[in-house]
Amino acid sequence: MNKKWWHDKTAYQIYPKSFYDTNGDGIGDLKGIISKLDYLKDLGIDIIWLSPIYQSPFVDQGYDISDYYKIDESFGTMEDFDTLLAEAKKRNMYILMDLVINHCSDKHKWFQEALKNPEGEYGDYFYFRKGTNGNPPSNYRSYFGKSAWQQVEGTDYYYLHMFAKEQPDLNWENPKLLNELYTMINWWLEKGVAGFRIDAIINIKKDLTFQSLEPDGPDGLVSVWRMVENVDGVGKLLEDLKKNTFEKYQAFTVAEVFNMKKDELVEFIGENGHFSTMFDFSAHSLSMGEHGWYDSKPVQFMDFKKALFHSQQECQEVGFLANIIENHDEPRGVNRFLPDHAQNPAGAKMLGTISILLRGIPFLYQGQEIGMQNCPMDSIDDYDDISTHNEYLTALEAGLSKDEALKVCCLNSRDNARTPMQWDASANAGFTSQTPWLKVNPNYKDLNVKAQLADENSVLCYYKKLLALRKSPEYRELFTYGKFVPLFEDDPDLFAYERTLEGKTVTVLANFGRTAKTLTLAIGSEADILLNSQPQADIHNGQISLNSCQVIVTG
Ligand code: GLC
Ligand code: CA
Repeated sequence: MNKKWWHDKTAYQIYPKSFYDTNGDGIGDLKGIISKLDYLKDLGIDIIWLSPIYQSPFVDQGYDISDYYKIDESFGTMEDFDTLLAEAKKRNMYILMDLVINHCSDKHKWFQEALKNPEGEYGDYFYFRKGTNGNPPSNYRSYFGKSAWQQVEGTDYYYLHMFAKEQPDLNWENPKLLNELYTMINWWLEKGVAGFRIDAIINIKKDLTFQSLEPDGPDGLVSVWRMVENVDGVGKLLEDLKKNTFEKYQAFTVAEVFNMKKDELVEFIGENGHFSTMFDFSAHSLSMGEHGWYDSKPVQFMDFKKALFHSQQECQEVGFLANIIENHDEPRGVNRFLPDHAQNPAGAKMLGTISILLRGIPFLYQGQEIGMQNCPMDSIDDYDDISTHNEYLTALEAGLSKDEALKVCCLNSRDNARTPMQWDASANAGFTSQTPWLKVNPNYKDLNVKAQLADENSVLCYYKKLLALRKSPEYRELFTYGKFVPLFEDDPDLFAYERTLEGKTVTVLANFGRTAKTLTLAIGSEADILLNSQPQADIHNGQISLNSCQVIVTG
């Protein structure tokens, strides 16, 4: 395997709107990010992924871009962005932009032109099709609910939007459009970004017949996902994208890919794959409901373990996965993947350890390093997220009461991860001096960065040790390239594995159970404890005792 500059790096996702506000408008900004670079460096972060900061009407929080060459003014200016690049560089840190190119905003000038004349030059940047007998061209349901086709007023044309109607899909069959995208991507790379997180990219290849499919719900519609699933040829588009952009700059790319076809792993993230890496969503997919959040299920520990073990083993001969616990689209991992008795600081340390020491590129999400939790909301009006409002309605339509529907949102909402970062115990968690754009989690008085920096037993101080171990001169190679070997696969409480490289072995042991456990290991009593989440650990003659929620790393 050829070594690449990003193989041994640790990444961190910033959700700019909720990270740190410096001018009191209740919205996080680029100056806020710059002022926290030292905090991230000190934590052990190398690569920073910024959720979208481009000009946007924010119908889907910036994932609807109206100008790819502008910074949205709520975040600051292009000058601020250049300062961020320079300040990151000084610290040997790298910046990734979020690349949203399956769709743009309906306010983008391309779409505004297209609306004027769906049959004209810009009409061909999108998918406009005529309806039949006053019905949309097909029965696809968008990811955010309702038809994926929106009628152009006063015409019988409809345009395709796989997400919100304000996010029209871009036509990847049009070379002119592709050229515009390549030029834009190279412009950012020339500026000095290290690469991109690539949004919703599996959706770019459409079945151009746009034929209706068997409905999968009482609304007579079928998830637009089925159309994507049935079509071949995304690989050619992705390869062209890479050749015309990323490859020339040795850029790092991490793709958001749900449900790739089975045998495509090598093509996606092999040595010469379309991307550097892609997120492992296997554990997140476990709770997905068949019809929506209202029929989602809690994640069972054994399924969680099996899913991650499977991804690790499937991938290790092929390439690198990007390992996550949570992101801006998911509820907090502490609440989702830990049993009730472990949803506390001890559990957060345990969950962080097993994820970060896996083979692959670790991606932390802001607040994960202090063990941030889901935010209770009192009313559906407290939620901003477009998808949460849709899922609430879907739940009501399925017959749930308002209280039940709200509960479903509390468990699953994307806003759980989007509440402001908790910096200290002052008003609004120190995130802003004025009213924050989204409610602050009321637990901030006890759970915040400042308090944890002052407490050496905190989740934050533990994360620092954990990342330092991963990057220590002695173990860096092993954690980067070492093989993943599962241990105690059938044990209902243990999440355990080894990482091995050239005769050297590190063992990770976590007890998710309610009670203490004593294990017999193949290690001798001479094994060193490299990391331990609780004060005590005993190793005697190859026997080791683990408390409930304790994780120990030996080497
Ligand atoms: C991705 C983003 C999500 C967004 C969607 C549409 O899944 O992560 O936040 O809503 O794409 O762009
Ligand atoms: Ca601000």
